[in-house]
Amino acid sequence: MGLKTLPASQFTIEKLTDFYNQTRIDYLVPMPMSVDVMAEYIHDFDVDLELSPIILDEDTDEFFGIGMLGVRGDSTWITRLGVTPASRRRGAGAAIINAFFDASKQIGAKRTILEVIKNNVPAQTLFERNGFKKTRELLVLRRAPIRPPLSPEGEITWLYRKDALAALRSYPHPLTWVNALGSMENASMFQGFSIKLKDGTRGWLVYRHKKQSITHFEFHTELGNPVKMARNILLYLHLQYHRMDAYAENFFADDPHLPAFFDLGYFEAFRRIEMVKEYTD
Ligand SMILES: CC(C)(COP(=O)(O)OP(=O)(O)OC[C@H]1O[C@@H](n2cnc3c(N)ncnc32)[C@H](O)[C@@H]1OP(=O)(O)O)[C@@H](O)C(=O)NCCC(=O)NCCS
Repeated sequence: MGLKTLPASQFTIEKLTDFYNQTRIDYLVPMPMSVDVMAEYIHDFDVDLELSPIILDEDTDEFFGIGMLGVRGDSTWITRLGVTPASRRRGAGAAIINAFFDASKQIGAKRTILEVIKNNVPAQTLFERNGFKKTRELLVLRRAPIRPPLSPEGEITWLYRKDALAALRSYPHPLTWVNALGSMENASMFQGFSIKLKDGTRGWLVYRHKKQSITHFEFHTELGNPVKMARNILLYLHLQYHRMDAYAENFFADDPHLPAFFDLGYFEAFRRIEMVKEYTD
């Protein structure tokens, strides 16, 4: 199969959205995107369309595959990768990975990061064969919009955008690409709360506020009991937003706040595996 690679920057956002949706019609977890959501995604996650490959049939220009590359500092991030069902197992996936490696080399990146849904055997095999190593397992949690039955304890302070960014800047643990400071700085609605409980427990939650959902949570317990902190701050959050879906991405499997989520009606939607390829000269 003769393949041709063009940069995604040569196509409109409408076309890129159509390409992406064509590759995901049989996906493990359905994730179709609208044009507006795609545009926001490219902006918020620093996707560089010059460095993002589109794979076409060399002779007919039929679309085969797409991949997008986020760029921040000396790291690149692979996202939105897919090949149309009819053209799989003919080298398009490998061609996308090679284009990512060339682009990462071109800009002097030290590593490339990605997340793949657990049990996505074709993609995980493709990544392993290309030198990616598993680093962490991540949980994606969801909650239906239900008003919580209790009121929170403690003293709550709203964190407006500037304060929420300052809180995240002080976060002592590594963050995944979508939850990292760069993503939140790019996001249009970002805010949070801090909480102080009578026993001295204190901490904060920051999150993105979208039209119909609250997403991209980060929690930090500065002192005291993480489950108590998270339970009370989540009670407050869901009293404020009782009509909204909640979508909390990329929690580490050993996050100490997790029991509070399950108490409040969250369920595990799926898991991701984070993988990294380090470049050595
Ligand atoms: C994963 C995906 C992009 C692979 O694309 P592809 O064009 O079929 O990949 P290639 O033909 O270049 O295959 C390269 C290698 O990947 C691995 N691979 C691809 N499909 C595989 C499968 N179904 N089972 C096991 N290994 C597979 C193989 O090692 C393969 O090499 P080989 O053909 O010499 O054995 C494609 O299956 C896809 O689009 N899936 C749905 C979307 C998706 O999962 N995206 C990834 C999100 S992280």
